[in-house]
Amino acid sequence: MAVPKGRSRWRFARHDNNLLRGVGLKPMARPQARFACQQCGVVYPKWTGRCEDCGAWNSLIEELPREELPGGIGKRTLDRRGGRAFGFVGLTGPSMLPPRRQTGIAELDRVCGGGLVPGSAILVGGDPGIGKSTLLLQAAAAIAPPVKEGSGELKARAASAAYITGEEAIDQVRLRAERLGVVASPMLLAAASNVRDIIASLDRGDVPDLVVVDSIQTMYLDTLDSAPGTVSQVRATAQELIRLAKRRGFVLVLVGHVTKEGVIAGPRVLEHMVDTVLYFEGERGHQFRILRAVKNRFGATDEIGVFEMSDRGLVEVPNPSALFLAGRPVAGQDAAGVAGADAGEIELAELSAGQISGSAVFAGMEGTRPVLVEVQALVAPAVLGTPRRAVVGWDGTRLAMITAVLDARCGLSVGTNDIYLNVAGGLRIVEPAADLAVAAALVSALTETPMPTDTVVFGEIALSGDVRPVGHTEARIKEAAKLGFAEAWMPIRRGNRREAAVATGLETVCVGHLNELVERLAPARSPRGPLSRQRRIGVAS
Ligand code: TYD
Ligand code: MG
Repeated sequence: MAVPKGRSRWRFARHDNNLLRGVGLKPMARPQARFACQQCGVVYPKWTGRCEDCGAWNSLIEELPREELPGGIGKRTLDRRGGRAFGFVGLTGPSMLPPRRQTGIAELDRVCGGGLVPGSAILVGGDPGIGKSTLLLQAAAAIAPPVKEGSGELKARAASAAYITGEEAIDQVRLRAERLGVVASPMLLAAASNVRDIIASLDRGDVPDLVVVDSIQTMYLDTLDSAPGTVSQVRATAQELIRLAKRRGFVLVLVGHVTKEGVIAGPRVLEHMVDTVLYFEGERGHQFRILRAVKNRFGATDEIGVFEMSDRGLVEVPNPSALFLAGRPVAGQDAAGVAGADAGEIELAELSAGQISGSAVFAGMEGTRPVLVEVQALVAPAVLGTPRRAVVGWDGTRLAMITAVLDARCGLSVGTNDIYLNVAGGLRIVEPAADLAVAAALVSALTETPMPTDTVVFGEIALSGDVRPVGHTEARIKEAAKLGFAEAWMPIRRGNRREAAVATGLETVCVGHLNELVERLAPARSPRGPLSRQRRIGVAS
């Protein structure tokens, strides 16, 4: 285990001071060493191998303390001998707040709550190589569109975005801009990492409307001794930049690295300091990238923006459902009256559509937007003693609960099998409304009965096996109808569901209990009641 260098030095200093005292001299004030955990930011007076607060090993790094209270390096107005009294105001009054600024990238604007708020700070986190720099370069170029020829004014109001990179060289950014086709944008570009220089360059007459700082982990303040990316540097540099953004009223976007645990590297306090925290995520093998708000002082946090990474940068996906359902048999192919059809008819229909069992389309919501996704399940006899569970895009605990409910309330024996569950397209579902779709995919896989291709499913499952109502029914139904679906299996719900369904021409089938789903999917194998003794339905044929 590494022992910090500073220790022996302090011990030596102590002996020195005793000597000084012996000859009647006053020892000089000695800076107290402090050790800060690089994971959680907790400060200790002594070095230890493990942070007691967050449990991280080897995360303590010695930091030299500052001689004065942390304060801005900009203009000081504070009187050292005492504070200045300020007046309080009421909740109403004239507001000087300028309107939100639209980037022109609709997916980004929506996630930010309808545009960027001037004077706010946005932190964008994400895995390396996911496309943070690409997104922000595109956003900066979109805010500062090319100046029209003939207007003559080259420097007028055009240069309203600045991109400051501490990670790449100017030429690399230029190369990327060329690839993205945004070289005509009059945005300002700089490679810098000293925050004092950045503030000096920005805090002049005409400040840009948007400032992107590519990776807060590369920025440093020369008043601190620690290396860039350490807790104290990240905290102090972010504080200085945010203070400037608030004072000059520009939108500040900070890029933050993500640790292998998936949280933004550096102190948690960084997330408290900024107004908005966005995560840019996606599966490496997939082209889809999802921008998700996890904190937003100026909007909702359940909105997502969907992008597709192309060879010319990120392309907006205005209709994600079509993207997530791509590759499936076209909805409506077997629309020949599935609602009242018997098993034979369904089998004929599915043969013609070439469909397979274990797939259900979930009508979900991401924020205010309905999104249809395919839930895929594979149920296979367990080879080893303990059945395997592999879940991608959904919660494993929730899957365990649904298999238990299927076993206990419907008399199936799903739980003894290996189960693989996948949400197609790389989307991560967090809604409990997906329960019924997951159950449908599981039952379909177990009984080898394909779901009708023109049916969407949604509803929450209770431990009793009852299907509970969920919100936004109309929005889900409308989206399904728009994409050519003919039927929705959904919870029984009071209110205006019928009207919505009639208006969209979609058939709604109410499922009150999980048994009804099993009966509808595989009538021959359905138990006759919630307490059925019929077991091992997968083998009984
Ligand atoms: P980048 O924005 O550098 O990621 P981050 O800043 O989050 O680390 O994205 C780099 C990845 O994006 C890289 O793997 C290549 C890919 N990419 C494209 O596929 N098309 C493009 O037009 C660009 C610019 C990048
Ligand atoms: Mg980058």
